[in-house]
Amino acid sequence: MDVAALEARARPLIDSTAFDYFAGGSDDEITLRDNDAAWRRVRFLPRVLRDVATVSTKTELLGTALDTPILIAPMAAQKLAHADGETAMAHAAAEAGTIMIVPTMGTVSLEEIAATSDAPRWFQLYMHRDRSLSSDLVQRAAEADYQAIVLTVDLPVLSNRRKDVANRFDLPEGMMMENLAVSIDSMHGSGLGEYTDEAFDPSLTPEDIGWIESLTDLPVVVKGVLRPDDAAIAVDAGAAAVIVSNHGGRQLDGAIASADALPAIVDAIADRVPVLVDGGIRGGYDVAKAIALGASAVLVGRPMLWGLAIDGAPGAKGVLDELTSELARTLALLGATSVGRLDRSLIA
Ligand SMILES: Cc1cc2nc3c(=O)[nH]c(=O)nc-3n(C[C@H](O)[C@H](O)[C@H](O)COP(=O)(O)O)c2cc1C
Repeated sequence: MDVAALEARARPLIDSTAFDYFAGGSDDEITLRDNDAAWRRVRFLPRVLRDVATVSTKTELLGTALDTPILIAPMAAQKLAHADGETAMAHAAAEAGTIMIVPTMGTVSLEEIAATSDAPRWFQLYMHRDRSLSSDLVQRAAEADYQAIVLTVDLPVLSNRRKDVANRFDLPEGMMMENLAVSIDSMHGSGLGEYTDEAFDPSLTPEDIGWIESLTDLPVVVKGVLRPDDAAIAVDAGAAAVIVSNHGGRQLDGAIASADALPAIVDAIADRVPVLVDGGIRGGYDVAKAIALGASAVLVGRPMLWGLAIDGAPGAKGVLDELTSELARTLALLGATSVGRLDRSLIA
């Protein structure tokens, strides 16, 4: 899939301030660039003379059967890409047979998404200083039949996103963070930065994973881990899965690329819980590399926004379909009949 061409098609359809917010990273964007480059550096060692007349991309994750191991990453403010926003993204997930991770900072409420789509859904939680707000969100997600809570742990404070500061990024008139019923206005710089600094809780510890578990029967997935020791701490504290992520190069600039961080985390915890990964996944071959390195599934972020901007739900589904068919072709070329057959022996 040519993601650069997709992005170029989407760009004129999106307000320039929103485009900068979607595409950008933090500070010098070193990690943003390295996320892509790190997948490109991984090399396959394919098998031949295996019968690959039939290959399957189906898998299973925390009890949910999926047609593809490619999940939709949680991303704020999707109405900035397309008027149907998160609702369209959920339709794409449903039709592609995968999970949408619905963001706390969505521009469609978690209940409205649940009412209009039967896609399997996980709810991404940003912990607020006001704990009653966080516990309400968890309970609302459980009542609306979400199947997991994804706690994002790599945003104790918002990073320095220079473009958003320069653009004084905010939400246009009439658009709100619907789960929180707040509009995002800029006082001086990034309106998002001003909101998160005031509202998000920077004092998270492993005990907070237990706190969320005390509120719900849903599994808690921890997103934003880059170190094997942190991954083990999260699992010891009750995490049902861990997502290796540097927030798509949008948080600590200079942080390790997620492809580079993945193998050590797999070695530390993959025998206990599923390990997922995101950041810079741009083709089915990247998905195959991640799974061969030990991930159970991947999340894709920005390419989904480009598909959404171009054609709403069908556009977003088209991106999932293309990635999945590339994955199927990669499986055949690797001599593997299913994603379950991918392992490190296929990596040079
Ligand atoms: C526009 C945008 C908004 C995002 N918002 C959130 C968010 O609200 N919560 C979260 O946990 N991650 C958020 N992320 C990070 C994604 O979930 C994911 O980690 C990242 O985009 C994956 O990298 P990729 O875009 O290179 O595929 C956001 C990413 C983007 C691009």
